[in-house]
Amino acid sequence: METHSTLFRLDVPLGDRSYPILVGRGVLQHVGEHLRALQPSQLAILTHPQLAQWYGEPIVASLQQAGIPTHLLPVPPGERTKRWEVVGRLLRQMAQRALDRRCVVVALGGGVIGDLAGFVAACYLRGVRYVQIPTTLLAQVDSSVGGKTGVNLPEGKNLVGAFHQPVLVLIDTDTLATLPRRHFRAGLAEVLKYGLIADEALWHLVRAEASSLRQGQSERLEEIVYRCCAIKARIVSEDETEQGVRAILNFGHTVGHALEAVEGYGRLLHGEAVAIGMVSAALVGEVVGVTPAGTAEEIARSLQALGLPVTLPQGVDFARLLQVMARDKKARDGQVRFVLLERVGQARLPVAVNEEAVIRALSLHQQKFVQRTTGG
Ligand SMILES: NC(=O)c1ccc[n+]([C@@H]2O[C@H](COP(=O)([O-])OP(=O)(O)OC[C@H]3O[C@@H](n4cnc5c(N)ncnc54)[C@H](O)[C@@H]3O)[C@@H](O)[C@H]2O)c1
Repeated sequence: METHSTLFRLDVPLGDRSYPILVGRGVLQHVGEHLRALQPSQLAILTHPQLAQWYGEPIVASLQQAGIPTHLLPVPPGERTKRWEVVGRLLRQMAQRALDRRCVVVALGGGVIGDLAGFVAACYLRGVRYVQIPTTLLAQVDSSVGGKTGVNLPEGKNLVGAFHQPVLVLIDTDTLATLPRRHFRAGLAEVLKYGLIADEALWHLVRAEASSLRQGQSERLEEIVYRCCAIKARIVSEDETEQGVRAILNFGHTVGHALEAVEGYGRLLHGEAVAIGMVSAALVGEVVGVTPAGTAEEIARSLQALGLPVTLPQGVDFARLLQVMARDKKARDGQVRFVLLERVGQARLPVAVNEEAVIRALSLHQQKFVQRTTGG
C-alpha cells in the first residue's frame, strides 16, 4: 500500500486493461492533472445537475484551461435514468459533438451514473475509455471498480450491459460530505459485507468506528474505502466476468434483490435491502449448518449500530419473495442460491438452498429481529 498523507493507491491487475484506483481526501483538487495525463481528444462528463455544479464545473474549468474541449452532459438523478432511452440520447449528444476514439467519458456520480456512463463508453464507437469519479459511498467501495456497466429494462434491473473496465478510478472521500446521510449509511452495508466475506480485520475496524460512521464520518474513512477497493480489485482480477469467486460479492443480495423488487425500487435503498438480506443469508447459513450459530445476531447488532435496517418489512409475503428469488438472473434452473458465511471473514461460493430451509430462515428472521435503531 502506497500512502501520501491521505492518498492511497492500488492497481486492479487485469493485464493490458489494468488500471489504478486513487483514494483520499482532496483527490479532486488534482483531477485536471490526472485527466490530462490520459491525453484525451475531448472529454464528456456524465453527471447530475447538482453534482455538475458542485464538482463538475471546476473540472471543466481546469481542462478547458489546458485546451481540452470538455462537455458536461447532465442527466436527472434517480434509478429511472439508468435506461436504454437515456443511453441513446447520450450517444447522440456525443456524436453531435464529434467525439472521436481518443475521447474519454467521465462518470461523476453514484452507481447510477457509473453504470450508465460505463455502458455509454462501452457502446460509443465500439468502446472508448472512461474514468470513474464515484461520489457515493456505495459507488466508491463497490460499483466504480470492476467494470460491470449497464442499464435496466422495464422487465428487470441490470438486464442489459457490458463488462467494460475504466482506465482510472479517482475516489475523493471529501465528496461524501454532501451525500445525504441515508445514502451514506446504505453504503456502509456494502462496507460491512466486505468484512464479512473477506476481511475479518475490516469487520472489527468498522464495528469500532460505528458511532462516527453512522454520523457520516470517521478518521479512518479513507482507509476503510481503500480496504474495500482492495478486496474488490483482488476478486475482480481473479474472476473478471463472474464465473466463480466474484459471486461472493453477492452475499446478502439474494434476499436483498428480492426485497427491492417486491417492495418496489426506491422504497428501500439498495444498501438497506442488502443489510436485511445479509441477516437473512446468515440465518440461512445457520439453518443449513454452514454458519456458526449466533452470527446473524452479531451481524444484525453491527448493522443497527451503523443505523441500518435489519428487519423484514412488515407483512412481507415469503412465497412472493421466493418466487422473485427463483427468477433472479443469478438463480439456476429455478433454484434459489445463497452465498453463505463459513465464519466472519470467510464466504463460500453460492449454493442452491432448498425452499424449506429458506422459509425456516425467513421465519426466524421475522421472529427474532426487531428494529432498534432510531434516526440520529
Ligand atoms: N456496477 C456495479 O458493480 C454495481 C454495484 C452495486 C450497485 N450498482 C448500481 O448502483 C446504483 C445505485 O448507486 P448509488 O447507491 O450510488 O445511487 P445513486 O447513483 O442513485 O446516488 C444516490 C443519490 O445521491 C446523489 N449523490 C451522489 N453523490 C452525491 C454527493 N456527493 N452529494 C450529494 N448527493 C449525491 C445522487 O444524485 C442520487 O440522488 C444502482 O443502479 C445499482 O444497480 C452497480
